[in-house]
Amino acid sequence: MTDPVSMRSDHCGTLRASDIGREVAVCGWVARRREHGEHLAFIDLRDHTGLVQCVVDGAADLRSEYVVRITGTVRQRPDGTTNANMPTGEIEIGDCSVEILNVSEPPPFQLNDRVEVDEMVRLAHRYVDLRTERMQRNLRIRAKVNASLRRAMDNQGFVEIETPMLIASTPEGARDFVVPSRLSPGSFYALPQSPQLFKQLCMVGGIDRYYQIARCLRDEDLRADRQFEFMQLDAEASFVSQEEVLAFISVAVSAAVEEVTGQKMGDVPRMTWHEAQERFGSDKPDIRFGMELIELTPNFAATEFNAFKADCVKGIVVDGGAEFTRSKLDELTEKAKRWGAKGLVWMRVKDGGELDSPVAKFLSAEELAGLVATSGAKTGDLLLLVADDRPKVCHVLGLLRLELGRPPVTEGGLQFLWVVDFPLFESLDDAGNPVPAHHPFTMPHAEDVALLDTGDPQDLLKVRSQAYDLVLNGWELGSGSVRIHRGDIQSRMFELLGIGAEEQQSKFGFLLDAFRFGAPPHAGFAFGIDRLVALLAGEENIREVIAFPKTQSGTDPLTHAPTPIDTAQLDELGLRLLPTKKND
Ligand code: AMO
Ligand code: AMP
Repeated sequence: MTDPVSMRSDHCGTLRASDIGREVAVCGWVARRREHGEHLAFIDLRDHTGLVQCVVDGAADLRSEYVVRITGTVRQRPDGTTNANMPTGEIEIGDCSVEILNVSEPPPFQLNDRVEVDEMVRLAHRYVDLRTERMQRNLRIRAKVNASLRRAMDNQGFVEIETPMLIASTPEGARDFVVPSRLSPGSFYALPQSPQLFKQLCMVGGIDRYYQIARCLRDEDLRADRQFEFMQLDAEASFVSQEEVLAFISVAVSAAVEEVTGQKMGDVPRMTWHEAQERFGSDKPDIRFGMELIELTPNFAATEFNAFKADCVKGIVVDGGAEFTRSKLDELTEKAKRWGAKGLVWMRVKDGGELDSPVAKFLSAEELAGLVATSGAKTGDLLLLVADDRPKVCHVLGLLRLELGRPPVTEGGLQFLWVVDFPLFESLDDAGNPVPAHHPFTMPHAEDVALLDTGDPQDLLKVRSQAYDLVLNGWELGSGSVRIHRGDIQSRMFELLGIGAEEQQSKFGFLLDAFRFGAPPHAGFAFGIDRLVALLAGEENIREVIAFPKTQSGTDPLTHAPTPIDTAQLDELGLRLLPTKKND
């Protein structure tokens, strides 16, 4: 790969034995320097393609991270000095002349992927950190993913449309970032939590198939899979069913996976939300491993043990877990309680299926034998049991399952899963209003519509929606739904959510208006590109696949954002600051 008009003939990491004898010019940073005798030094020169060894005469003034151009001749390394761990390890550049293009202060940390560097230091000097092989690789994977997603969506007839960043609020369940308006003092724009409403308006506008690689902003607590700003592949289509949405999203994700891994994604299995909860205790099951939740309620239908006189009893079997120490078991019990359980029963499976547990004495012989038979636990295993209402049992055991079984991010391959038939509402809030499980624009399941009007709030929680998620290795990769496209149903939905007529008009009047002018049936989806790239790159945290991310506390140690603004700027915006309140 030769640059057409360039200071260099080759890139460092691309030189091979087939280049032996060629005169080359390479440019890059001094990665490492080893003295060889009095005058000679080995310089490892680094660019975005990797390292090459250069043998330099009189290298005294070459220091780490100096930017240099080296010309010389590619030659075989002497016998016994080849390096099989290095792609360029068979050759070196000899007879070098060196031109220093720029000097560098000593770097703030060693740019060696084997050295663990404090993340604050890395982020404060991100421009240096980006030179590491890890960051070079991750950002290039990201670019490949973006390019292949674009190609896949274009090929499927989707039109790329940019939607605005300064908008009225779109509710996705997080807090808005707001921007004060200079021309309308006292008024604010919201930054988009997603392009949701604009893409629906595009459908009303007859675009038919829309997509966007969209920047979204949400003011929420940051975690390994969450940043304030992140990218979605966002899509919407008219006159389509859920099946068609799943199909076109699968094509796009599969294109990205194949581009990065060289492997086909294969068919993605599907599971209802209900089944996911019952078997994995989660709406985003990590199916790289088993340890499924085992239904034990019937085993204890007539139990004398008070703790098990509950709506639901379930358990998990931990392979080989009988070896856990008492303190480890106490720690698990504490965790289960923190997650909301009343307690945790553990049982070690001994020879002959005998169960060793502090509560064994409260259980009948049939109950104990039934437990071993139903769970399939073997000698040396550990049984963990929780009794409570069904959602609580599933939730706690789901978390214990992850705690005890989840493989590291780089193991177990890429296990995609569609979760379908989400409930329309996930819970009732303190005022008794239902909280949407996805967002308020999601169409209820046709068979469950009657439940919306029984007047019993508990019935609302039984309504299924036409919403679906794509899950990858236990991360929610993306979500979508068939939308409400009729104004009367949308209004009814807002009403159920406790949004009165006036608020509907002020917040969503434009949407309800649009629905009066011929909105086609439509459906869509969005998935997090940061999350997909992180899992493809084998990274635990999406920060590692974002060029300039924020820290856990939402700051940027490089630019020091967020920063105060001066009084003149505040005045212009018509803003006055209250005395600062420290966030607790
Ligand atoms: P949802 O809110 O589920 O759906 O978001 C879709 C996907 O975006 C990613 N994501 C994030 N990634 C990084 N940091 C964050 N803070 C963050 N928040 C969300 C996740 C998530 O699955 N408009 C709907 C989609 C639709 O209905 O079409 C929406 O935004 O991967
Ligand atoms: P207690 O009867 O509260 O002393 O609890 C006896 C044992 O049962 C303790 O090991 C508790 O951790 C456990 N336990 C209590 N309630 C539950 C529950 N709902 N589910 C599972 N284990 C429980």
